[in-house]
Amino acid sequence: MNNQNKNHPPVIDYEGSDYQTSFWKEGGREYEDRCEQIALKRLLPDEGGLLLEIGAGAGRNTPRYTGFKRVVLLDYSLTQVQQAQEYLGKGDKYVYVIGDVYRLPFIDNLFDGATMIRVLHHMKDPQVALGGINRVLQNKSPFLLEYANKQNLKAILRYWMGVQEWSPFTLEAIEFEELNFDFHPKSVKKLLAEASFKLERQLSVSHFRINFLKKWVPTGILAALDSIFQYTGDWWQLSPSVFTRSISDKKSPDKHVEGFFQCPACKKPMPEAEPGADKLVCPSCSKIYPVVDGIYDFRN
Ligand SMILES: C[S@@+](CC[C@H](N)C(=O)[O-])C[C@H]1O[C@@H](n2cnc3c(N)ncnc32)[C@H](O)[C@@H]1O
Repeated sequence: MNNQNKNHPPVIDYEGSDYQTSFWKEGGREYEDRCEQIALKRLLPDEGGLLLEIGAGAGRNTPRYTGFKRVVLLDYSLTQVQQAQEYLGKGDKYVYVIGDVYRLPFIDNLFDGATMIRVLHHMKDPQVALGGINRVLQNKSPFLLEYANKQNLKAILRYWMGVQEWSPFTLEAIEFEELNFDFHPKSVKKLLAEASFKLERQLSVSHFRINFLKKWVPTGILAALDSIFQYTGDWWQLSPSVFTRSISDKKSPDKHVEGFFQCPACKKPMPEAEPGADKLVCPSCSKIYPVVDGIYDFRN
């Protein structure tokens, strides 16, 4: 666990993790990956300018954001961002940033889209995270959020059979492992509304995340079945994963600010670094942020 400062929510540590390989490539998750690809395609806008991908990890989903001209990948872990850069390459299309969703280092209203997939389940303080995401989004921009659903069919059956103590029907998040939370759909809806997001659409995803089905039924068939069931997400959510699309619904109109980054120390705007530069210096407070191999580091 990182960031054990009492004024800051704790952050899960993926530093040095081989998550991309052990969980996705060798962990038998092709079915889940395909279902998520289908859900993203359904929820993403056809085109856009600048997308923020929060908790991008090793960039598994990034190539799916084809409609956007540029993507900023933000993650708390240096090694995850390095893996993403290795996978996607250097170049102007991608901006790599090590930073914290609780203190996003970007100016207000910078992005015209954002995604956060498989990250909310690590948030002890989702309200702060969602408020910050709304701040950096232009008004009426789409925000795609995936969350782990505590009210899934398996949890309901386990609860009714008496093998699971916690109720899947109550609104509080359940921390099933340290810094791993499942959320109730109603509480996510409320969190989004409180952060000035208007929920537009929901897809329930990965209905058939059951080992014996994944072993015996071809992945393409299971994913095709899931793609039909996903549409039920607007009516009920009983799957382990839910994808939502909201739009930023701000009360006051966007003010234009020159710049790209926001200094996490003094909150003043900063431009992007010159190509090849090894640091970014805040023009207001002179704080220095390293840029190593094209990766901005805003952790400190
Ligand atoms: C389960 S992985 C998901 C990665 C990717 N979104 C995917 O679906 O393949 C969660 C990621 O969230 C990142 N993360 C967790 N807490 C964070 C925070 N406070 N700020 C930024 N990234 C965070 C982790 O470092 C990790 O890479």
